[in-house]
Amino acid sequence: MTPPAPKILVFDSGLGGLTVFTEVAKLRPHAALLYCADDAGFPYGPLSETALVARVMEVMEKLVAELAPDLVVIACNTASTRALPPLRARWPQLPFVGTVPAIKPAAEHSHSRLVSVLATPGTVARDYTRALIASFADDCAVTLVGSTRLAPLAEDFMRGAAVSEAEIAREIAPCFVTRDEARTDVVVLACTHYPLLLDFFRRLAPWPVEWIDPAPAIARQADRLLVERFGPDREATAPAPRAIFTSGARPEPALAAALTRMGFSPD
Ligand code: DGL
Repeated sequence: MTPPAPKILVFDSGLGGLTVFTEVAKLRPHAALLYCADDAGFPYGPLSETALVARVMEVMEKLVAELAPDLVVIACNTASTRALPPLRARWPQLPFVGTVPAIKPAAEHSHSRLVSVLATPGTVARDYTRALIASFADDCAVTLVGSTRLAPLAEDFMRGAAVSEAEIAREIAPCFVTRDEARTDVVVLACTHYPLLLDFFRRLAPWPVEWIDPAPAIARQADRLLVERFGPDREATAPAPRAIFTSGARPEPALAAALTRMGFSPD
């Protein structure tokens, strides 16, 4: 008899975590995949650390009780850079995989040593982010750019609404820095919503840079932990992925179509 497929919950404040979900689904096509968007709590970016932790713990309490996941991916930098320790303390047996700014690979890839980190205001303000810079990029000039607008714009885009290219260009502009003859050559996408806008970023950037999306690395980490506990992905009859919205709202037609394309069951 084949063992049951592990149940993986991917969690974010909104739709950004779908960028991580897609990578997890590629590595674990036979897992029972669940996605939860805390759209009733969106956006997390401007929340105080106390409010953020309280919100994440409250939502996770219900999700763990109802869904009993085998592994949780916190597909949100804003939440991971603050809420991972309390989550792990509350559920010591449940593996949590976090998403934190990809500063180490950025420093490894940069030739100019001018690196920018594009994130929510919460993530750029975190001690955790500063500690990553001190550990992995102390010989780089790192520009932290906190945006309140890009995550809501990514949500609008996924819901089929028109988004302003001028506004996107304005939001990414501070990432592009020149110093003497050098200019920024690597930008870390330190919010899971931002890869959803990557085509805009590439088109609107004042010069080409490498954009670092950590989603494939996060999926590999989740897969490693699953291999340790359940073995490699193997044929199993798992239900189609399910998307849960904490607001209880039904996705708009454009979003419903995008979710169907990603393999989610239509209800
Ligand atoms: N997707 C989240 C992140 O990676 C943040 C979006 C929000 O502000 O809620 O940081």
